[in-house]
Amino acid sequence: MPRPVLTGSEERPSVGAIKNARHPFYEHCEDTLDRIRQQGRYRTFTPLARQAERFPLYEEEYPGLPEGREVIVWSTNDYLGMGVVPEVQDAAIAAIRDHGAGAGGTRNIAGHSPLHARLEAELAALHGKEAGLLFISGYVSNQASLQTILSSMPGWICFSDRLNHASMIAGIKGAKGSSTVIFEHNDLADLEAKLAAAPVDAPKMIAFESVYSMDGDVSDIGAICALARKYGALTYLDEVHAVGLYGQEGGGVSQRDGVADQVDIIEGTLAKGFGVHGGYVTASAEIIDFLRSTASGFIFTTSLPPSVVGAALVSVRKVRAENWRREALFERVATFRQRLRAAGVPFTMTDSHIVPIPVGDAERCKRISRRLLNEFGHYATPINYPTVPEGTERLRLTPGPFHTDEMMDDMVRALATLLRAEGLMPTREVAQQLA
Ligand SMILES: Cc1ncc(COP(=O)(O)O)c(C=O)c1O
Repeated sequence: MPRPVLTGSEERPSVGAIKNARHPFYEHCEDTLDRIRQQGRYRTFTPLARQAERFPLYEEEYPGLPEGREVIVWSTNDYLGMGVVPEVQDAAIAAIRDHGAGAGGTRNIAGHSPLHARLEAELAALHGKEAGLLFISGYVSNQASLQTILSSMPGWICFSDRLNHASMIAGIKGAKGSSTVIFEHNDLADLEAKLAAAPVDAPKMIAFESVYSMDGDVSDIGAICALARKYGALTYLDEVHAVGLYGQEGGGVSQRDGVADQVDIIEGTLAKGFGVHGGYVTASAEIIDFLRSTASGFIFTTSLPPSVVGAALVSVRKVRAENWRREALFERVATFRQRLRAAGVPFTMTDSHIVPIPVGDAERCKRISRRLLNEFGHYATPINYPTVPEGTERLRLTPGPFHTDEMMDDMVRALATLLRAEGLMPTREVAQQLA
């Protein structure tokens, strides 16, 4: 029997009516989802099974095909393909055999192992810091660390880059008693003006990223640290899209630029350049001990399972030692850009490994991505609002060491065909100028 819906006109609904009424949250869900659909922002998952031995090939679950069909993925964040390196896979399997599938507890309740301690020491060494602390994801490391630090003393002011990741914003917004000043993205003059306007004696923090993953641009860490010193601010740097990829050992842009020692807290993930899972922060011994002792998002959750920690440890060690992986990545990125340019396919030139193809409309972006997959067997994620501002929708490509010249040629041809169909290819003259 359908449940009665309360219209609001009932003066005092009877207990029976309330008991059987549909809760207004159900309607709220439906309205919100309708709105998202109308705006062309409704998210659908693409079922893709990575083929470990044939990366970047994936098998897409495909109607009518029992085994799926093979597609080439251009949007993985496993930038170096470390997740399919046999030694990394073996380490995960060995850790499960030796220690079981799960951690069995929080770090304080039997969920701490020698593997956890070794991985934290390895990450601290990678960033040249005294200590490191693992979290269950990069998101949680940002959210928990920022919220805990910014709730710690009265009057904190957090200077936050306008394009900071949602996980940083969650931590900053969730802090009690602190205030936030947003500075324009990568704008040192704006940051300095805002620092100068703040009360001299307030505890300050500058929270920013190195590689901004949607635009692929890179911050000037040294210059931001210089401002932090001038105005007495603590620095919190998210190197999530840079660890493993930049610097002689993959310590991120701060290592590449020789400024890691100037940053107070460096945060990273094990899920992208290191190809496994989990997040971390590295800093001085007292900051790490403080977070270990007070951060709710660290204390009250089951620790990373041994398979993840064992695999990550091998991956971090390999990535530190094997610079050829980084060289291979950047060679492939340069080759891909060259081929796009030669074919006149527009892309945004960035200082990083990220290759955005501007589209500028959510529906179009989804359509191009869908046709790319269905008709050409290539997968590139459409990036739409709210991940990026409306009107700046794009495909985000991350070519890696495993994309061959043939794959690139095929992808470039497919992109040219689809962008031409959407009227997004530049005229011959403009293309020649770009080339
Ligand atoms: C800048 C940034 N920080 C943090 C995270 C969260 O990292 P993780 O995927 O390990 O949770 C992401 C995820 O994409 C990110 O882009």
